[in-house]
Amino acid sequence: MMIVTLTSLAIIIASASSQPLRSIASEKGLCYIGAAVNEAYFTQESYRATAAEQYNLVTAENSCKFGSIQPTRGEYNFQGCDSVLDFAVENGMQFRGHNFIWARFNPGWLEDGDFDSDELVKIMTDHINTVGSRYKNKTIAWDVVNEALNDDDYGLRDCIWHNITATESYTSYVDLAFTLARAADPQAKLFYNDYNVASSTGWSKGKSDAMFEMVKGMLERGVPIDGVGLQMHVGCGYDMFDGVRDNMSRYHEIGIEVHITELDLACEDKPEENKDCVWGDEAQEEQAETYASLLEICVESEACTNFETWGFTDEHTWLDEGTHPLPFDEEYEEKFAVKAMRDVLLNA
Ligand code: XIL
Repeated sequence: MMIVTLTSLAIIIASASSQPLRSIASEKGLCYIGAAVNEAYFTQESYRATAAEQYNLVTAENSCKFGSIQPTRGEYNFQGCDSVLDFAVENGMQFRGHNFIWARFNPGWLEDGDFDSDELVKIMTDHINTVGSRYKNKTIAWDVVNEALNDDDYGLRDCIWHNITATESYTSYVDLAFTLARAADPQAKLFYNDYNVASSTGWSKGKSDAMFEMVKGMLERGVPIDGVGLQMHVGCGYDMFDGVRDNMSRYHEIGIEVHITELDLACEDKPEENKDCVWGDEAQEEQAETYASLLEICVESEACTNFETWGFTDEHTWLDEGTHPLPFDEEYEEKFAVKAMRDVLLNA
């Protein structure tokens, strides 16, 4: 006969309710619970411990980007990117590659090099081959191209890579990058990642529709793309949940996987939407509800396989100080957001 005393019951309840997010998600076979991490903070015990305990997927915040990894032409520095991969392996986490090709975070030699199309193709080929092969079979997914679309006309952004001219084998540098990435690491899932594209309604409808059409076109042309990353640096007061759900289902219909890749919910005023944010219990509650609603949408969606925030502690965020965007506070204590996300996972 099992005797459960009141004290042991209390302990069972307490431990159940503080179960790490990653273990609930993996026990139930839900999505990955991801976070961007920065190896610069690995010396901090609470940083490492919280990341390892709560998350089962990591992305390097900066150290796998072009500028970090090939600061000088032909000379690769894998140190930072490797340490994030090592951290993932040590802690039984997936490693997500971010990113091969972007308009930003490029080294000076590349930005200022005034290269013609043929030379840019060589540079892209060498970079994707070298980096892709190094992390071959170790990377669950790569953001092959990041933020290629303009915010106004949703065409391809003017950037160095845009100087690559189309040929019979590829219509743009985007197609070329995906083809190279598939050859370098055939098992990694290949993603296109962008911002203001999460909801197919509201203010992000235009760019979101354009991205969907771009991805559909790539599939029709036989370009090897497996997924899309919805960044979601969307701030407090985000409320386009139906649009996110619809967007995910249209990607599912065309066989494309979705990752929420860079979610953060900064408490800051949004004058254009006439919204103010004053940090306190109410704002924290609203933030928690938004985290929970988005996680619920991801868990329920057949397309969404990764729910990832850009960082995890307010101690280290790329956003302004005092905006409290992430699920853990500056002391690595759980905010309301973690509790709300845990409830979503427990109830899924
Ligand atoms: C950001 C990093 O967080 C910063 O540390 C860095 O200074 C600039 O880049 N979209 C992306 C990410 O795809 O790579 C960016 O990361 C945030 C916006």
